[in-house]
Amino acid sequence: MTMTPETDRPIRPEGRTALPMVGHTRGSRSPVTCHLRCGDACSLPVPNPTDGPTFREIAEEALTRRAVLRGAAAVATVATIGGTAWSGSPAAATPRVAKPVARRGSHRRLGFAPIAPVARTVDDVTVPDGWHWDPIIRWGDPVVKGAPAFDPDHQSAQAQSGQFGYNNDYLDIIVTDHRSTRALLVCNHEYTNEAIMFPPDMDPAERIRTAWAAHGLSVVELRRRHKGQRWTYVPGARLNRRITLDTPFLLDGPAAGSPLLRTEADPTGRRVRGTMNNCSGGTTPWGTVLSGEENVNQYFYAAGTSAEEKRYGFGPTQDSRNWRSVDPRWDATKPGYVNEPHRFGWIVEVDPHDPTATPVKHTAMGRFKHEGANVVINRDGRVVAYMGDDERFDYVYRFVSRRRYRKGSSRNDREHNLRLLSEGDLSVARFTGDGLEDGVSDGSGEWIPLTRDGRSMVPGFSLDEVLVFTRLAADAVQPTKMDRPEDVQPNLHNGRVYIACTNNTDRGKPGKEGATEPNPRTANKDGHVVELVPSRGDHAASTFSWNLLLVCGDPATAGTYFGGYTGEVSPISCPDNVAFDSDGTLWISTDGQPGTIGFNDGLFRVQLDGRDRGKVEQFLAVPTGAETCGPVVHDRDGSVFVAVQHPGEDGTWAAQQSAFPDFVRSGHRPRKGEFAGPRPTVVQVTRGRR
Ligand code: FEO
Ligand code: CA
Ligand code: CA
Ligand code: CA
Repeated sequence: MTMTPETDRPIRPEGRTALPMVGHTRGSRSPVTCHLRCGDACSLPVPNPTDGPTFREIAEEALTRRAVLRGAAAVATVATIGGTAWSGSPAAATPRVAKPVARRGSHRRLGFAPIAPVARTVDDVTVPDGWHWDPIIRWGDPVVKGAPAFDPDHQSAQAQSGQFGYNNDYLDIIVTDHRSTRALLVCNHEYTNEAIMFPPDMDPAERIRTAWAAHGLSVVELRRRHKGQRWTYVPGARLNRRITLDTPFLLDGPAAGSPLLRTEADPTGRRVRGTMNNCSGGTTPWGTVLSGEENVNQYFYAAGTSAEEKRYGFGPTQDSRNWRSVDPRWDATKPGYVNEPHRFGWIVEVDPHDPTATPVKHTAMGRFKHEGANVVINRDGRVVAYMGDDERFDYVYRFVSRRRYRKGSSRNDREHNLRLLSEGDLSVARFTGDGLEDGVSDGSGEWIPLTRDGRSMVPGFSLDEVLVFTRLAADAVQPTKMDRPEDVQPNLHNGRVYIACTNNTDRGKPGKEGATEPNPRTANKDGHVVELVPSRGDHAASTFSWNLLLVCGDPATAGTYFGGYTGEVSPISCPDNVAFDSDGTLWISTDGQPGTIGFNDGLFRVQLDGRDRGKVEQFLAVPTGAETCGPVVHDRDGSVFVAVQHPGEDGTWAAQQSAFPDFVRSGHRPRKGEFAGPRPTVVQVTRGRR
């Protein structure tokens, strides 16, 4: 249901369907699904045991203190779009205003009245008035030539290996012709939820093999007749491809071939079967897609006794999927497989334009719980990649390539660019706050080198060890512990970098680090967004400054901060993926709102400049139980795309919690034999009615 917000009266969120939530009260997800998503990371001890302070700590609730320092002049009134008037504590520090960017009209192209927050029971995509949504492709739809149609009662690994995978996360729509009638859809499939995917009587071994085939990535050709029309996908098209846990990968970079990466099945330490837990990513200027292998610990059985295993969360309670019952490589206690876990947790690079290309895992970019990687061509031609390690109290990283990007389109140029991420310098961020005195958030920071010119910069760590056990090497140089940094993405329009820190409810607990300037709240359930400003506009510089852009939450709650903006805003919580439209305006998708502010996750537009800096407007909401992933904003084309991940996640095969998208969209009741359950789906949102 869509509604036009009104400033002066609350609008009660509601929707066309009301499904009961099941399970627990705190958050929207059961422990079962937490385990499938990230190996129950939030229930386990924080894997970063290092002591602070690693930089100057400030008093808890730093924002409130700043507001006091700044005095009454800072008091602002922020109202909620579609909610109640703001009545919380004063707004906090005022960041320096970003340099204005010339407006080129994306607002006219993507004009919308923000939707009101949507109740977490609503099993539908909610879009603004005058807009509508369509699925492009759903889990199980045939992708490669010869793949069968989705048959939920008779799934198999063979069928799934040619069909669209489960739980679409990172997404890009890469237009490939000048008329804008052809495109490639590239998307990650982060993880499986077998309870709601497969019939309960499915053969256990085939169920596991089918889950392997539902992981990885998809490349799918899209077509349309005219620019501005909706896209449809082409089953069996030439470039269509599935990459799964059985696809051959090459390890490259300095650690390739290291004894730390060799197994019985791969004594070279250079060839890995498959990729998994591919979360977010980025598309490179040379047309490839980067994908982050994130919570890979949850797939292995391991002793969990070594410092390396503990720091990465490997242990004996992590393999709820019991994959080792089908393939011993998932048992890291078995001789010959102790290094298999080291072969996951990398940034992988896939060339979607060449279905025969072997994808690569880049060891030069380090190994941790990679959310994703986003690259920018620095002004000196080197490629700079920004990366987050999505764990409570973990770090933000930067990679700077040794070689320079070549603009040409010759075969040589392309091959050169395909090797850019194979050699370079890895560093980790230390944020230093100094904004207390005048209440202005003008923090500084530095990139601490971990590798330089092909050498380790960390005493006591070999180059291989820095790259394979990057977390441990980083611990030794005291970077800043962040609140689960997810997407870290440069904005090509203003040269700044946006870091989505999704949440960290452990901050400030006994024995844990308290509030710090770049992570300003204890018990941080709603997350925040940090804006990093490279020194002199140089992405390879060793220093930076930074501001807080958003401290998320319901604006009626003390401690939230919307970039200094004082007009009405949409409540926002748990920022995860970020994207920019053609004039550099920020878009944020969320993961976790049902458990924090009680609304379905969504997609939000956030202004970065001038008086509107910090204005948050909700564009869409996803169905019950889902998270919003991979936003792609083609404002010149009037279209927005999202990956609807894990709709109805709390259900089971017998008691599905979502009928998205098929029966939500068609409106009819599922007939006997029809699959009534949820299907993760890539959705396009365009103007007009369905
Ligand atoms: Fe898979 Fe960090 O979210
Ligand atoms: Ca994510
Ligand atoms: Ca992104
Ligand atoms: Ca997330």
